[in-house]
Amino acid sequence: MHHIPVLLHEVISILQIQGDSLVVDATFGAGGHTIEILKLYPDVKVVGIDRDASVIQYANNILQEYHNRFHFINDRFSNIDKYFNKNVDAILFDFGVSSMQLDNADRGFSFMQNAELDMRMSQNDEMSAADFINTYSEDDISKVLYFYGDERQSKAIAKEICRIRKIHKIQNTTELCNIIYNVKGKKKEGNINAATKVFQAIRMFVNNELLEIEHALKKLPYILKYNARIATITFHSTEDRVVKYWQKQNRLHFQKINKHVILPSHEEVYNNIRSRSAKLRGFVYA
Ligand SMILES: C[S@@+](CC[C@H](N)C(=O)[O-])C[C@H]1O[C@@H](n2cnc3c(N)ncnc32)[C@H](O)[C@@H]1O
Repeated sequence: MHHIPVLLHEVISILQIQGDSLVVDATFGAGGHTIEILKLYPDVKVVGIDRDASVIQYANNILQEYHNRFHFINDRFSNIDKYFNKNVDAILFDFGVSSMQLDNADRGFSFMQNAELDMRMSQNDEMSAADFINTYSEDDISKVLYFYGDERQSKAIAKEICRIRKIHKIQNTTELCNIIYNVKGKKKEGNINAATKVFQAIRMFVNNELLEIEHALKKLPYILKYNARIATITFHSTEDRVVKYWQKQNRLHFQKINKHVILPSHEEVYNNIRSRSAKLRGFVYA
């Protein structure tokens, strides 16, 4: 499925883009936010960044129409200071995975389809989910599940992973799901699948997602103009905590635009269930 951009109008309103601004879409994905910005502001330039090379097809589509106002960089956003020098007027981070990544069975992100346990956002990265599951210690696995996934049964699941991997290598998503269901049962937790938190935790660890966010946010003073605007969209509490903590530590220079976090409307959640956990925050660099 195509990725539907989340909180689109709210992001536009936070970024307050003007004239010939330079805007960075640090998590380009299918370019949903980028396209809207290019359409709305005829003199603005947008640079899209994504670590996943498979999104280049979407970047190429945009280039056909906006070749003089759009540029794509295939890299991690923690390297952002390599490309800009205090010249950015607005930046958007829409963290997490895209629908294309989740829905493409071959990528191994989803517990809904059987696939090799990969979960790497970039094929240049070395460690896959299978490498992690089959080589890390029981204690490390348990900590990852607990801290990145808020998984309460982390110890029991890590123990079961280590028991099974002694018998055979754990290679695919179905094997991992069965291990999780053996421990927790198959019953849904609220409205999420019993495997959701474990899959999320492993994905976040394999892609070093929290450190990526931390590093990128720390580098903002090197790339932004004064009065630049920042929008962050997070999808769960672990990510949101990193953003909140960074803002607290840097509150003199990064001021909140809205007192409270912005959530999707009922209508947006109805039309796009994946928006349900999104939280938008906006900041001004001063
Ligand atoms: C939620 S999607 C963005 C969707 C996009 N805003 C849209 O509307 O089409 C997140 C994207 O960020 C990318 N991404 C995640 N972590 C990244 C990182 N550290 N550096 C660069 N890209 C990253 C993922 O590969 C994914 O394509």
